[in-house]
Amino acid sequence: MRWAVFNQKGGVGKSTIVCNLAAVSARQGRRTLVVDLDPQANASHYLLGSDAGEASPNLAQFFQQTLGFKLFRDGAKDFIHHTRFEDLHVMPADLELEDLQAKLEAKYKIYKLRDALNELEGYDAVFLDTPPAFNFYTLSALIAADRCLIPFDCDEFSRRALYNLLDNVEEVREDQKPNLEIGGIVVNQFQARARLPQRVVDELTAEGLPILEPFISSSVKVRESHEAAKPLPYMASSHKLTRQFEQLHETIAGVES
Ligand SMILES: Nc1ncnc2c1ncn2[C@@H]1O[C@H](COP(=O)(O)OP(=O)(O)O)[C@@H](O)[C@H]1O
Ligand SMILES: [Mg+2]
Repeated sequence: MRWAVFNQKGGVGKSTIVCNLAAVSARQGRRTLVVDLDPQANASHYLLGSDAGEASPNLAQFFQQTLGFKLFRDGAKDFIHHTRFEDLHVMPADLELEDLQAKLEAKYKIYKLRDALNELEGYDAVFLDTPPAFNFYTLSALIAADRCLIPFDCDEFSRRALYNLLDNVEEVREDQKPNLEIGGIVVNQFQARARLPQRVVDELTAEGLPILEPFISSSVKVRESHEAAKPLPYMASSHKLTRQFEQLHETIAGVES
């Protein structure tokens, strides 16, 4: 199953959710791949630490080789790097993706990632991280994915952005990917003691939006985990957030079977 985690708003927790769900998946013995489509490469750094800067070949080179003529192209597996964590692999991003975008778009390379992942063997789960924009890379991820997860940080601006975002997904479904499913909305940075977040979530639920449970709490541990380049299941296996990610994984993986 391939999951794209998508929200055009930055800072809502896309990279955090991708890497922690992937970590839960890998710790349970599934061969798991993270594809980082954000030129900022936050997920790559989270999983590879300081090695991320030199991770080559990376996703930029994968897309680069789709431009121009080459008789034998390298498959996706040649752009995958092992992390320090068992069964957890990453196709890292690179800032170069930014410069490539216009060319890839002009030459209709939007299906290349899906085609490469379709040929990739040996992975039980793939998580695609996306940039904070609705652009070529986000669209490539949605086309390559079976389902999308939408992180939501309970703020009023995010709520307004959510409707627009759901419209975008609907458009992708109509134009490019009829079988793309919305896996659900992941409530992140939830503050149980504040009234507003709960009210916003209740209203969204009442509107019939697919809110997933459990919600992911807000915790300083997340930043520590980014700094240590160690997803929470590896850094703090019994922490409340680790358990929330495990339960969330169970929710989404349960949908799978
Ligand atoms: N549950 C959380 N609790 C506390 N901080 C969080 C949580 N989720 C994300 N953050 C912080 O918010 C910032 C943005 O998260 P990130 O995953 O990079 O979002 P995005 O990929 O959507 O831009 C990071 O600094 C991260 O440490
Ligand atoms: Mg990110």
